[in-house]
Amino acid sequence: MALPRKKLVAGNWKMNMTSSEVTPYLETFRREIDEIDGVDIALIPPFTALTKASEILGGTQKIRLGAQNLSPEAKGAFTGEISAAMLRDLFVRYVLVGHSERRRLFGETDEIVRRKLVAALASELRPILCIGETLEERQAGQEKVVLETQLQGALAGLSKEDLAEVIVAYEPVWAIGTGLTATPAQAQEAHLFIREFLTKLAGAELAGKTRILYGGSVTADTAAELMSQPDIDGALVGGASLDPRGFAKIVAAAVTEE
Ligand code: 13P
Repeated sequence: MALPRKKLVAGNWKMNMTSSEVTPYLETFRREIDEIDGVDIALIPPFTALTKASEILGGTQKIRLGAQNLSPEAKGAFTGEISAAMLRDLFVRYVLVGHSERRRLFGETDEIVRRKLVAALASELRPILCIGETLEERQAGQEKVVLETQLQGALAGLSKEDLAEVIVAYEPVWAIGTGLTATPAQAQEAHLFIREFLTKLAGAELAGKTRILYGGSVTADTAAELMSQPDIDGALVGGASLDPRGFAKIVAAAVTEE
């Protein structure tokens, strides 16, 4: 049975790339992906480069924009923060919430993650909820407990309409920026667990439609096998998305021949 999930490949530039680097990147990247169809593509630049990317891409369908973070607050005296409405104004469609770097380095709790998710949904941004266990948690056999706690903390209480907008990214912390990719089997096991959680939370139909991305040292060499797993619906790529040609290869790897 064909699955009703179009793959999504998203490039999270993290704190890399100045505004002036955006134009040459996009020139190359657009050329490289010109022939590719059937995959949703997102670029997630830092805020300062987002403006430039938005000027060039506008609301084009082929490459969507995402943001790396947002404020849980709508507006006001929150120095240094960026609101969902500011992102919408730049044609941003996706926003990362709960990336492990924000949880670990900036103290984001499950409650903050939940509030950001709600803020994104209220402005019709599609949140990409990032979850994943550390190496110690995996070694202690706790990875599923961690995933369940993070999912529960972020998603409990959301309506089905809101849940239908959420994309989940499984990013094992030990695989991020380390060159250690989860094996396709390890990733598939975690993805299936996440889908089963979603089934319990909101039913099989919704869980069957939710995209679950894998992230953690994805490269052009590992992408195809990871994304051929039945419950892996795309990739959230960090380091390897900084090179437009290499990232285009990862996008190409998401195209499934029927
Ligand atoms: P790397 O691909 O650099 O491991 O980063 C993954 C990630 O954190 C994407 O959000």
